[in-house]
Amino acid sequence: MKKRGKAAGIVLAVCLLLAGCADAGPGAGSRRIVRIGHNQSSGHPIHLALTAFKDYINEKLGDRYVVEVYPSELLGSQTDMVQLTQTGAIDYCVASNAILETFSRNYEIFNLPYLFASTGAYHHVMDDEAVTGPIFESTRQAGFTAVTWLDAGTRNFYTVNRPIESPKDLRGLKIRVQQSPTNIGMMRLLGGSATPMGFGDVYTALQSGIIDGAENNELALTDNGHGDVCKFYSYDMHQMVPDILIGNNAFIEGLTPEERAIFEEGYEIVNRVEREQWGRAVDAAKEKAENVQGVQFIYPDKEPFSRACLPLHQQVLENNPGLEPIYEAIQAYNREYPAGEEPGAGGQI
Ligand code: GCU
Repeated sequence: MKKRGKAAGIVLAVCLLLAGCADAGPGAGSRRIVRIGHNQSSGHPIHLALTAFKDYINEKLGDRYVVEVYPSELLGSQTDMVQLTQTGAIDYCVASNAILETFSRNYEIFNLPYLFASTGAYHHVMDDEAVTGPIFESTRQAGFTAVTWLDAGTRNFYTVNRPIESPKDLRGLKIRVQQSPTNIGMMRLLGGSATPMGFGDVYTALQSGIIDGAENNELALTDNGHGDVCKFYSYDMHQMVPDILIGNNAFIEGLTPEERAIFEEGYEIVNRVEREQWGRAVDAAKEKAENVQGVQFIYPDKEPFSRACLPLHQQVLENNPGLEPIYEAIQAYNREYPAGEEPGAGGQI
């Protein structure tokens, strides 16, 4: 990747800032440009979903708004983009739940390893506004709120040289994790050496041997080329970390009630299209990784991994007791949708 031109992203973002809100891009006239950034390729389910959003808004409100979607970290890393959304330099971006943990500790809950018993439990939790509402609203003071969630499958370890069959295989390995205290804590409990870095830097770090592996869903192997370097992918299924579409509060609050209803319908389209695309994208990625890149898929016993991670649940709840009722609600969904009973994309934990 694939390393993105960070400087280029920042320059573009500064230009957008200077351009302000009274936009006059080609054909935009006096229409307000709505800018959305994300860090995936233009073939990724997130881009397809945001393109459907763009088409919907342009169809319904095309006389007033022009939606522009910027893929591939063109506007910077996820952390950069969240900051740009905070200040209103851009209007929306997609950020991993892991990144949002630094903006509100409430997001820690969805970063917990082995939190969801199954894909069914995960989807039902994320669709339940009574559960997600207090989390999604918790950055209001910081200038942005979450408007919908996006499936990012299950996260699993993949490595250059050594297949991960049990936590002891992680010992001595430098594994890239997302930049969040929960992820660092998870790696510590599993015995590997956590190397936090932005997504756009992972390919080069793998290739140059700075890290021995990483952890992500299957699309990272193909879409981001990590499977060109890492030949072992182990389904330990340690996390289901959602991606979150966040929006700048001032922009959202400035919409008329009629416009707001249309944007809200648009958020639902983002969620629906991304989920429709996700299963297909995972199947295609597995096929390509196995048959073209020569990646070997490994199915270890998950129990030793989950046992090692469990203390993190207690620790997060002790440090943030406000999360207790949410954790309990998640356990209720886990009882309703236990492992092995729900097919769903991404498999079960
Ligand atoms: C997934 C996720 C991204 C995230 C990335 C990462 O690809 O969809 O939002 O940035 O993991 O590991 O950083």
